[in-house]
Amino acid sequence: MFAPLTIANQAYASHVMLAPMCGVGDRPYLEICREVDTQSILASEMVSAPALANGGRNTTEMIDFQSVNGPVMIQIFGHDPAQLATGSRMIEEAGADMISMNFGCPAKKIVKNCDGAALLRTPEKIGELVEACVKATKIPMVAKMRIGWDDTSRNYLTVARIMVEAGAHSIAVHGRTREQGYSGEADWEAIKEIAAKVDVPIIGNGDIDGPETAMRRMRESGVAGVMIGRAAMGNPWVIHRTAHYLATGELLPAPTPAERIAMAIVHARKLIAFKDERFGVVESRKHVSWYTSGLPGSAEVRLKVNQAKSADELLGLLMAYMEQASPRALAS
Ligand SMILES: Cc1cc2nc3c(=O)[nH]c(=O)nc-3n(C[C@H](O)[C@H](O)[C@H](O)COP(=O)(O)O)c2cc1C
Repeated sequence: MFAPLTIANQAYASHVMLAPMCGVGDRPYLEICREVDTQSILASEMVSAPALANGGRNTTEMIDFQSVNGPVMIQIFGHDPAQLATGSRMIEEAGADMISMNFGCPAKKIVKNCDGAALLRTPEKIGELVEACVKATKIPMVAKMRIGWDDTSRNYLTVARIMVEAGAHSIAVHGRTREQGYSGEADWEAIKEIAAKVDVPIIGNGDIDGPETAMRRMRESGVAGVMIGRAAMGNPWVIHRTAHYLATGELLPAPTPAERIAMAIVHARKLIAFKDERFGVVESRKHVSWYTSGLPGSAEVRLKVNQAKSADELLGLLMAYMEQASPRALAS
């Protein structure tokens, strides 16, 4: 139906990428996505180039995605070419299949430090950073950008062309300005324009909520692939369902309530094993809230889960909820 997504001469079996998401895309979450989908490219949350280059504690841990089979893309952010080169090398050595560079993060503390979307105001600097990263490594680099700083400076074509000139192998475009944050709608006309005028595979990103929207966006914009962020929170199935639909036209069923709660349990267990019990219990809260969103009785469960102090308490609540959602599911 669509030509295979091909980046730096490598063809991928899926047209879908999981978007990098800070506070979401850690190792446990990527492992979960991989259980559901064997082939899509999964992006990690962003990792700081200065932290990697300065070799702080936990830095190798932050880029250890060896347990996630299949294509993994680790995202780096920073504004110093030497630090980005060092960090990128470390990412390559850690076994990542691809690197993503962050030129889109709108968070105040990031842009105040001249990182993320702040760099859209100095496109020539982006060129310097992309070149530093690409020259330092042999794995493909997917630059991720927004379409401008604000409505008066939608310099997306300039930025994208500079990225390509500097050696980016692909560009993921979130069709919003920094000023927009996550409000309004992603501008897919701008994404379409970049896809038509820029000579590397463009990955379209913004407001893709499922397989059918992805299909429409692929058809209308001519992008080589799509990237899914928020719709995958508490819903790793959306990656596989979208990839499968784009490849075959067949719509796979959405997960049942029991499957969603069961996955929340698997996810919580992974988070608890990942660092320590406290981290796991606290981190699980938001994921549980996403997995159970819209399910009958979920508000009450979320309230209790948010107060749970131990792994036993948290898992007990989820097991009881699952039994309630589908008594037979537990027995089988
Ligand atoms: C919780 C959260 C964290 C995010 N963290 C990152 C990040 O670390 N790096 C990045 O490039 N984009 C980040 N983004 C932006 C997403 O990658 C994506 O561009 C954006 O959510 C739009 O896609 P969507 O409409 O499919 O969610 C984040 C988004 C969310 C919601």
